Amino acid sequence: MHVLILGGDGYLGWPTAMYFSQRGYEVTVADNYFRRNSCLELDVGMLYPLPSLAERAAIWYRRTGKEIKVVIGDLREAEIMRSLFSGTVSYDWAINKSFTGVPETIVHYAEQPSAPYSLINYKYANTTISNNLLVTNNLMFAVRDFSRDTHIIKLGTMGEYGTPNIDIEEGWLTVRHKGREDTFLFPRQASSLYHTSKIMDTDLMWFGVRMWGLRVTDLMQGPVYGMLTEESGVDERLKTIFNYDEIFGTIINRFIVQAIVGYPLTVYGKGGQTKGVLNINDTLQCVYLAQKHPAESGKLRIYNQIMETFSVNELAELTRRVGVKLGYEVQIEHIENPRVEAEEHYYNPAYHGLLELGVKPHYLTEESMEEMFTVVERYKKNIRRDVIFRGIKW
Ligand SMILES: NC(=O)c1ccc[n+]([C@@H]2O[C@H](COP(=O)([O-])OP(=O)(O)OC[C@H]3O[C@@H](n4cnc5c(N)ncnc54)[C@H](O)[C@@H]3O)[C@@H](O)[C@H]2O)c1
Repeated sequence: MHVLILGGDGYLGWPTAMYFSQRGYEVTVADNYFRRNSCLELDVGMLYPLPSLAERAAIWYRRTGKEIKVVIGDLREAEIMRSLFSGTVSYDWAINKSFTGVPETIVHYAEQPSAPYSLINYKYANTTISNNLLVTNNLMFAVRDFSRDTHIIKLGTMGEYGTPNIDIEEGWLTVRHKGREDTFLFPRQASSLYHTSKIMDTDLMWFGVRMWGLRVTDLMQGPVYGMLTEESGVDERLKTIFNYDEIFGTIINRFIVQAIVGYPLTVYGKGGQTKGVLNINDTLQCVYLAQKHPAESGKLRIYNQIMETFSVNELAELTRRVGVKLGYEVQIEHIENPRVEAEEHYYNPAYHGLLELGVKPHYLTEESMEEMFTVVERYKKNIRRDVIFRGIKW
């Protein structure tokens, strides 16, 4: 089985590559360092430095004898995307140019993943929309033209649904109207341009499914936390990228770093915003099980990829408790909300599908948070307070 991971240098992409490789899959990763370059451009800092993607693959090979093929190229370029299917090499650089054949599964992570990034100004909004839609559209046409049977696993986000005043279903809603009934994509109303680009991505895939019978799984994921996985334990240098800044850091990762450097936990507004979250190890399980049980041809299958829900206040309180237990003085500060969002709202999403496929959740507990504190503490001297909050306003 050949798995192609688009965005394979990223926070989720690199651990996914190792996960599949460890389980005997042929793995190709493609990336253009968009994330790393953006970190440099915006000067956001990282908890620890990372080897290049080629170096990571070389370390993995030395440690396990398993090869991860690396392609460096911008997937907004249609010819680069298509060359991953046709074998006609047109990408910028590859570790091993021999063509592995069309992939049976594609995991599509290659997007700009930050809401604040998408709202820095019109330029970053354009980058987000053009990057995310062009990569997805190029992928859809490449699969249509070269390999219609390939299963696409695309990452969506729970943020596509927004915070409606009704229960959130897994992707679809049956509507009765004037005595007739039909099933539609669940109504979506995002509160950032990044999340809006993800809605548009879902629509592109839904179009491809209806027109050409593509097989697609769309995983509506909540914010992911953590950095260690079984495979990253093979070598210290294989840990995934860890950002704690306002642009690329995710909430739990950020709170832990803030607690460690004595920076008051930045709760936006009232802190009643509720989100579904998951451990990075559960992202790996979800993607793996989605691959094992592919969507049928002509089906857009949607799962809500979260394991539990917390309000921002609850996450801050948990971080405070764990921090204090470990000897840190942790303050919580309610700051003026730079975002336009509901600070208190109804939130009741369904998330049965992935559990039914067999995912065994790693829940967020004081113990699991303590483990993350222990890793972050080792890099305390690298933490830059100036990047933690800059106040990008909606
Ligand atoms: N991390 C989370 O908490 C989270 C939550 C919900 C959804 N998601 C989704 O999961 C996916 C992966 O997120 P992540 O946190 O790993 O982000 P990431 O930025 O770490 O990974 C994305 C990778 O794609 C690459 N990339 C972007 N544009 C590219 C292009 N044009 N050509 C080639 N490579 C390109 C980037 O360089 C990066 O390595 C994204 O689609 C994101 O929307 C993430």
